[in-house]
Amino acid sequence: MSVPMPYLIVLLLLTASSWVFAETPAVDPEINAYYRDADYARWKSIFESPGREVFDRRGEILKVLEIRPGMRIADVGAGTGLYTMLFAEGVEPSGKVYAVDISKSFLEAIGQRAQEAGLDTVITVLNEQTSTELPPGSVDLVFMADTYHHFEYPRAMLDSIRAALMPGGILAIIDFRREPGVSNRWILGHVRAGREEVIREVEQAGFKLIDEPIRLRENYFVRFRKIDA
Ligand SMILES: C[S@@+](CC[C@H](N)C(=O)[O-])C[C@H]1O[C@@H](n2cnc3c(N)ncnc32)[C@H](O)[C@@H]1O
Repeated sequence: MSVPMPYLIVLLLLTASSWVFAETPAVDPEINAYYRDADYARWKSIFESPGREVFDRRGEILKVLEIRPGMRIADVGAGTGLYTMLFAEGVEPSGKVYAVDISKSFLEAIGQRAQEAGLDTVITVLNEQTSTELPPGSVDLVFMADTYHHFEYPRAMLDSIRAALMPGGILAIIDFRREPGVSNRWILGHVRAGREEVIREVEQAGFKLIDEPIRLRENYFVRFRKIDA
């Protein structure tokens, strides 16, 4: 079968544009390799122990997020479920908490933990690096703790987060401060972008910075509102 020339040209142009505009990885995928078949118990003791700022200050963080019964929240990069479990208690009985992560073992354990706690508001979602896999307009709040710097394709993830948020929905990001000359070598090597760059990227993806509700020490905490088209 021969393809008419005009169709062939359009097809070639579309293919070429997808090569040009495809997002290149922002970080080395090795940054996430150890979460793939992660040992849940080991990581839980790392993520949910005193000494980690987002664990120690979880009460204050939760308070400013004003979690209410009926809210629909996505904990993107849920890890071992530290915030998923706290949100799940707050949104009961009619809300929903989507625990979104690329790690199957983390999600299986979160599902079991929620079941044991009698929290049927938790829904686990296994995603890939370019999408949250959340339904459009399904959540009021997207929360991320120490996850943004793990995104291999931040723009694709932000587009997917924006689509998942209802009109006027909130995106709350907590991530490590990265300040050359101040931050230690591990942070400078591990964390791709600092606060200002993250704010720029998120605003470029269709969000407006609204506030910085708490000043943290090792991390910063910024909130954005989805700008409706
Ligand atoms: C440093 S951990 C933080 C876990 C949790 N938010 C906490 O603070 O305890 C980063 C998490 O992000 C997940 N992750 C990395 N890239 C992701 C992506 N594109 N979408 C969803 N989760 C991702 C990892 O599997 C890991 O569980």
